[in-house]
Amino acid sequence: MMFDNIYEYNPQSLQKAAETIKKGGLVAFPTETVYGLGANVYNSQAVANIFAAKGRPAFNPLISHIADLDFLPEYALTDSRVMELAKRFWPGPLTFVLRRKDENPALDLACAGLPTVTVRMPDHKIALKLIKASGVPIVAPSANRSTTISPTTAEHVAASLGDKVDMILDGGPCRVGVESTIIDLTTENIVLLRAGGISLEELEAFTGEKIIISHGNPDQPKSPGQLLKHYAPSLPMRINVDEKDVHQDEFFIGFGNVSHAQLNLSPSGDLRQAAANLFAYMREAEKHTEYKGIAMSPIPENGLGLAINDRIRRASYKK
Ligand code: TXA
Ligand code: MG
Repeated sequence: MMFDNIYEYNPQSLQKAAETIKKGGLVAFPTETVYGLGANVYNSQAVANIFAAKGRPAFNPLISHIADLDFLPEYALTDSRVMELAKRFWPGPLTFVLRRKDENPALDLACAGLPTVTVRMPDHKIALKLIKASGVPIVAPSANRSTTISPTTAEHVAASLGDKVDMILDGGPCRVGVESTIIDLTTENIVLLRAGGISLEELEAFTGEKIIISHGNPDQPKSPGQLLKHYAPSLPMRINVDEKDVHQDEFFIGFGNVSHAQLNLSPSGDLRQAAANLFAYMREAEKHTEYKGIAMSPIPENGLGLAINDRIRRASYKK
């Protein structure tokens, strides 16, 4: 299928995208994790349009994407812990929940009225150029309809959002493939709100402290990524399934050394490769409606496996 709002990245399309952001439009753009659905953080109407396009509940706060550390103290309270983590992990797939500096009402919608602001600096050339050319932080949730699988290519965005987005900047497939790790830095101990592209082990090695894992209250999520049903493919999915237990009528997504998988996240058992393939393979699997469901191999619970298991647990959740 062809979509006429996909633009291959070049200096002209970048300029057009920056103009679109400035004028209050919506631009989907690549980051190292997944594609984001971007708007000018200070334009409440544009931010509202993000919620409408995604079909997302309006109380859900959004991540502001910045290209320069100097932006941070303008609207967030920082301290040495924040700055050290930023210097070590930015640009990169790590998002901070920080206390808002003052009550700048322009940020209310992006922050969903909370006293916190959520920020990251993406490690992607096109994203950084777009933010710089727009001259403002860009708020962006993943560029998919609420509760569906996050997009890791421009085509995924177009298939999910179609003409609800003014422009899609195509930068090819996303390198990391799962969303950023989100940590709460408003508390004395660092709290992990969402496992993601930076592993818990890396964070603990750097900070030298034990990070608290928040499982949240699924009915009242602090981070709606904590909703039990999220990232869901349209076919029912079973996880932790050994090859010998896959049903005849199931599409099997394997990991590591299995012999009969329709798709294998990483035949060599590499968790980074598995993360990068995860969402694209779930999308591929759900197209096979000749199957009754999807079965997935067990994934080890370390490194990026934490983020992968988190996503597939929610994707397989049954009410
Ligand atoms: O990798 C990513 O983080 C991608 C790319 C585009 O940057 N973005 C992304 O955004 O995944 P989104 O909106 O799909 O997921 C962000 C999650 C949401 O579940 C949101 O509720 C949570 O972060 N969140 C944002 N601000 C928060 C806050 N102040 N407190 C708690 N949770 C927050
Ligand atoms: Mg999302």
